[in-house]
Amino acid sequence: MTASLPLAAQTPAVRRTPQRRRYLMCRPDYFTVSYRINPWMEPENPTDTAKAVAQWQTLYDTYIALGHEVELIDPVPGLPDMVYTANGGFIIDGRALGVRFRVPERRGEERPFMDWFAAHGFEVIEPISVQEGEGDFLLVGDTILAGTGFRSVGDSHRELAEVFGREVVSLRLVDPRFYHLDTAISVLDPSTGSGTETSSGTGAAGNIAYLPSAFDEASRRELESRFPDAILVSDDDGAVFGLNSASDGYNVFISPRATGFEAQLRERGYNPVLIDLSELLLGGGGIKCCTLELRGKS
Ligand code: ARG
Repeated sequence: MTASLPLAAQTPAVRRTPQRRRYLMCRPDYFTVSYRINPWMEPENPTDTAKAVAQWQTLYDTYIALGHEVELIDPVPGLPDMVYTANGGFIIDGRALGVRFRVPERRGEERPFMDWFAAHGFEVIEPISVQEGEGDFLLVGDTILAGTGFRSVGDSHRELAEVFGREVVSLRLVDPRFYHLDTAISVLDPSTGSGTETSSGTGAAGNIAYLPSAFDEASRRELESRFPDAILVSDDDGAVFGLNSASDGYNVFISPRATGFEAQLRERGYNPVLIDLSELLLGGGGIKCCTLELRGKS
């Protein structure tokens, strides 16, 4: 137990409640590593598509077993990264902002995702600036945390604020291994109070876990002041993509290799659910990358 934890967070009285989520996933039928657009990808090494599908299926089945709703988008041959649906858009209140990939290898995914949103009743907004959706944009409370440095450009943050009429906090990533914001921050409780039943403060503005070394100095200061209760994850846990996780406010879906983070989550009253996506890590993605949240009209 860390001495600096606020008292309320240490007591067993912290009772966290899972909230039902609606996710979009894409079966990795065409997954492979045929190009290199992040430091994890090594096209010269073989990948096992059947293994990727089996691991992905476990994540899917676990979401369903825990009561979540999972929609599927059809995979497209020749688009091996489409399994990482977090990069397909960013959705709040039934409005879906499409993406414009930085990297040409993934541009073919832009239209299929926007078409899917339109066909499923979402209002689709065509993006102007380069940005990679929920890979770089994370909703916490009423605020959107937005990453830049490797993929999404600063202008996209202004566009995001205009489209959704919300405060956008720009954060700069500095380590090429953590090139998307969702590899360096995990939103544990995005809600405005419904996720916890204590006055520990974590419910009011939501709460996060993050990897301090992935950010520049100014961004670290911003995170420290906004999220004094945040879980600070070790470099070891970050390096196994521990932060690339999904959470329903109680169950936190994480890599089994992130053992330190697992213990930190338990201390705070969360329930870590271990899912191994080692094969998908060969493409530089993990649990969160394979999960896009579909937030309907509230
Ligand atoms: N190979 C993909 C890319 O580099 C992995 C994307 C991971 N997605 C994420 N949300 N972090 O674009």
